[in-house]
Amino acid sequence: MPEERVAIVSGAAQGLGAGFTRALSAQGVRVLAFDRQDAVEAMAAEVQADTGVQVLPMVADAAQRADCERVVQTAVDTFGGVDILVNNAGTWRRTPVDSSFEQAVEDWHYIMDTNLLGVLMLSRLCVPLMRARGGGDIVNISTYYVLPARGDGTNQPETDLYNASKWALNGFTDAWSKALADDHIRVNGLCMGAVDTPMLRGFFPGGKLPEDLGASVMQPAQLGQLLIDLLNDGRSGENIGAWVGEPVVLPEPAAAHRRISG
Ligand SMILES: NC(=O)c1ccc[n+]([C@@H]2O[C@H](COP(=O)([O-])OP(=O)(O)OC[C@H]3O[C@@H](n4cnc5c(N)ncnc54)[C@H](O)[C@@H]3O)[C@@H](O)[C@H]2O)c1
Repeated sequence: MPEERVAIVSGAAQGLGAGFTRALSAQGVRVLAFDRQDAVEAMAAEVQADTGVQVLPMVADAAQRADCERVVQTAVDTFGGVDILVNNAGTWRRTPVDSSFEQAVEDWHYIMDTNLLGVLMLSRLCVPLMRARGGGDIVNISTYYVLPARGDGTNQPETDLYNASKWALNGFTDAWSKALADDHIRVNGLCMGAVDTPMLRGFFPGGKLPEDLGASVMQPAQLGQLLIDLLNDGRSGENIGAWVGEPVVLPEPAAAHRRISG
C-alpha cells in the first residue's frame, strides 16, 4: 500500500475500529479516527506513539450530518484528502418483537442512523474526494451471517434491527462497487463472526464470554491485517468473511454470481 495515504475510520475508540486504526497506521497511513466517545483521543495517542504516524482523533457522531461534514472537512484541511473510508461505527439494541411500538421505532432510528445513514453520509462526502485523487477504497463493516452460504443467516435473538441493518449494507456494497468502478473506487464488506470487543461482550451477562468462545474468539488485530490484505489486493464488490476457529485470511476472489451473498 503506498505510504502517505489517508484514511477515515468511524467508531474508532475501541474494539474493531481501534484495531483498524492501528493496522492502517502501522502501514504508514495517516488516519482520522473518530468516535462519539472521547476515549478516541487516548486510543489515537497510543497508536501514534507506537507507529510514529499521525493519528488525528475527533469526537463526532456518524449519525449526525453536521458531524460527518466536520470530519471529512477536517481530513481535507489536515491531510489534503481521503483515500480510504472504513465505515466501522455500528450499534445495536435488544428490540424484542413484542416490545412496544414506540420502542421499536425509537430503536430503528438509533440503530439505522448509525449503521446505515452514517455510512451513506460519510461515503457520499468522501466519494468526490476519492475521485479527485484517482480512486480509493470504501470498506463497510458488516457481519458473517449476511453470507448465508456459510452461516445460518441470522444473529442473536431480539437483535432483528441490527440484523436488518447489516443485510441492508449489502445493498450499498453491491451497488456502489458497480457504480464507482469506473472511478477506481473499490467497495467491499468485511463480514466477521465473533471478535473480542466491548460490543461482543455486551451480549453476555457481566461481559464474560462463554469459555469455548473465549478460547476461540477472533482478535481485532487479525481483522486489521485482513483489512490491509484486502486493500492491497485491489478487488471490489465482495463481502469478505472471517470465522471463529478458521484462519483469518483473504479468500480467493469469489465467482461473479457469489460476490455479495456468499
Ligand atoms: N465484535 C464483533 O463480534 C462483531 C462482529 C461482526 C460485526 N461487527 C461490527 O464491527 C463494527 C465494530 O464493532 P465493535 O465490536 O468494535 O463494537 P464496539 O461497540 O465495541 O465499538 C464500536 C465503537 O463505535 C462507536 N460508535 C457507535 N456509534 C457511533 C456513532 N454514531 N458515531 C461515532 N461512533 C460511534 C462506539 O462509541 C464504539 O466506540 C460494528 O459495525 C459491528 O456491527 C462486530
